[in-house]
Amino acid sequence: MVTLTIDGRVAKVPAGATVLDAARAIGVRIPTLCQHEALEPWGGCRLCLVDVTKKEWRGWQKMVVSCMFPAEDGLAVATATERVVATRKVVLDLLLARCPDTPLVQRLAHEHGIERTSYQPNPEPTDCVLCGLCTRVCDSIGVSAIATVDRGAGKEVAPPFHQPPPDCIGCLACAEVCPTDCIPYQTSDSARSIWGKTFTMVRCPHCGRAHITREQAAFYAGRGGVPESYFETCDACKRTQMAKTFTSLSAVR
Ligand code: SF4
Ligand code: SF4
Ligand code: FES
Repeated sequence: MVTLTIDGRVAKVPAGATVLDAARAIGVRIPTLCQHEALEPWGGCRLCLVDVTKKEWRGWQKMVVSCMFPAEDGLAVATATERVVATRKVVLDLLLARCPDTPLVQRLAHEHGIERTSYQPNPEPTDCVLCGLCTRVCDSIGVSAIATVDRGAGKEVAPPFHQPPPDCIGCLACAEVCPTDCIPYQTSDSARSIWGKTFTMVRCPHCGRAHITREQAAFYAGRGGVPESYFETCDACKRTQMAKTFTSLSAVR
């Protein structure tokens, strides 16, 4: 365990935890946009900045992104120093110019006293805050069907050449991690579509629930070296079957 202080409060966290983890462990809120517990930190949005210092640094302090900086013994963290708040405000001011109509951005900006951006608002407002969560989750699955393209105000997340991405398996992970819900998709018992690509759904042979796309089943089967049919049974029915197996084994004993 390592022991540090955050805004004067003591936090004890396992070695390997980040400053953000430590803050959350003791209920200190630090705003974040590009962090997700299922993904490696990236440090892209810069909202989670904090000041850190140590006794032996003799008054020197540095500004770091708390989602990446390791919690260390003796570290003193300040989450709302003047320069931290000022830097966060610049980030939010710029974000508000890019995404003036996005409720999450409006809320974060409002929490920092910003109601209107001081920059030229984006003539084509978007809800995408460029947090990179969607592309990173897709990469982490091993698909990499989408990427960040273009520069400046036109920067966006898109499939190659803005065409339905051949590699996409329709898992919806990108849409589920998006903090602003700006990746549109449709899903029903028969079909699912996302990024302009349409998928056929696979029904669980036991409960009939359409829970996975045919492409997902094939992808997972290929990676796991197990038959595609294994993925056709939904997780809930797999658990029920397993419980029945254990119950019958116990009865035999
Ligand atoms: S739906 Fe497609 S683009 Fe989105 S994470 Fe899954 S594979 Fe990637
Ligand atoms: S589409 Fe959503 S998840 Fe992807 S970068 Fe934009 S805001 Fe983040
Ligand atoms: S949450 Fe830490 S940089 Fe985005």
